[in-house]
Amino acid sequence: MSLKVGYRYLRMAATSTKVLKCDSASIVFDSVSEQPTITSPDTLASLQIAARHLHDLQPVAFPTETVYGLGALALNSTAASRIFTTKGRPSDNPLIVHVSSFKMLRSIIPSNFTLPATYQILMRHFWPGALTLLFPSDPNVIPPIITANHSTVAIRMPSHPVARALIAITDAPLAAPSANSSGKPSPTRAEHVLRDHDGRLGIILDGGPCDVGVESTVVDGLQSDGNIRVLRPGGVTVEDISRVLRRELDGAECIPQVLVHRRDYADQELEQAPTTPGMKYRHYSPSVPVTLLFTRSPTPVGEQSYSASEYLATLSFKSDLSRPIKVGLLTPTDSVLGTFTLPNGIEWHRFFLGPVSNPAVTAQKLFDGLLTLEEEKVDLILIEEIEEFKEGLAVMNRVRKAAGEFKYLTF
Ligand code: TXA
Ligand code: MG
Repeated sequence: MSLKVGYRYLRMAATSTKVLKCDSASIVFDSVSEQPTITSPDTLASLQIAARHLHDLQPVAFPTETVYGLGALALNSTAASRIFTTKGRPSDNPLIVHVSSFKMLRSIIPSNFTLPATYQILMRHFWPGALTLLFPSDPNVIPPIITANHSTVAIRMPSHPVARALIAITDAPLAAPSANSSGKPSPTRAEHVLRDHDGRLGIILDGGPCDVGVESTVVDGLQSDGNIRVLRPGGVTVEDISRVLRRELDGAECIPQVLVHRRDYADQELEQAPTTPGMKYRHYSPSVPVTLLFTRSPTPVGEQSYSASEYLATLSFKSDLSRPIKVGLLTPTDSVLGTFTLPNGIEWHRFFLGPVSNPAVTAQKLFDGLLTLEEEKVDLILIEEIEEFKEGLAVMNRVRKAAGEFKYLTF
């Protein structure tokens, strides 16, 4: 036990972490009552234990379809504050509130707020699911600790049966950031959460690996121009949002544009603010250095490019280790680097991210890959770029933030 005095070390002695299995297949939601039926007695018991823990104001880690979340009662500031201490999260970074029903949504947004037509369409198509929407926030309902004192609150309805049932059984909205320690890659399996928080967290619900693998898309549709601003690309793709709005608003006087922050617009004020997801703080970085390898983008003017075989071979000389350097390599299976013959003299740890043609698979595997290679104790992780379309936009958003170094390769 370390002598270092910090909340982490003090809390380590206090708690033993229970991992409770939940069977998603045993949970079914009724579309009218918006309530779950749970046929597995063990799953029901696990959810009830977790709900009691939440009402005792303790955080609980639970699976969502995107990544594992660290949940606490959203309408209770003491409970919410424990999310910040457990994660080591800066207090100026607001949290997403998760609801299990439209009834619950209506109970926490201002009664005089009229849902924009765009929100009605997006909710019909993507809720429950990996889409977070900003709403005006009433500070008398949503504690300012959740919104970091901003005028909006981010809300989503998760589609993972365990997440949605946990909220329904707790009968209260849950605030939940991704369950990683602040700055680390988001967990997509219960074992990732356990490794990160063992002894510091009472309960982890284990619902198996997450399907989507990257976090929700955060959307602001509250601006006066009616356009949809994507603050963070995520599990629901920009292509799908645009397609659905175009189709449903066909013939309308004005079809809103879907604008991706930093790709389609810049906002100086927003870029300084922690409310712009992932702008201000370090994100998605394992404890190992990460290098992003560009293998398809042209080398920008002023940047040096390297021959792939020469660059990879130089890694073996980089190390002052008395053993061969261990290098983790995250690539699509059939990409130029995925099929490349790697040089000797390096202990390669490959982790494949699915076919180039299927960015949804890459998204699903990305954080698992980073966390698996970190667990294998590699000295360096290389990630190959993928094309920024569909889920690839969210993948590259995360990879750029995880990487401390970028290299342009030629073949
Ligand atoms: O998929 C997800 O969204 C996961 C699961 C657990 O639901 N949650 C998640 O939470 O990714 P977190 O805290 O890791 O990321 C939420 C992002 C943050 O970058 C935060 O800045 C942004 O959403 N956010 C929260 N409230 C906001 C607000 N009122 N305005 C703008 N951005 C906000
Ligand atoms: Mg996060």
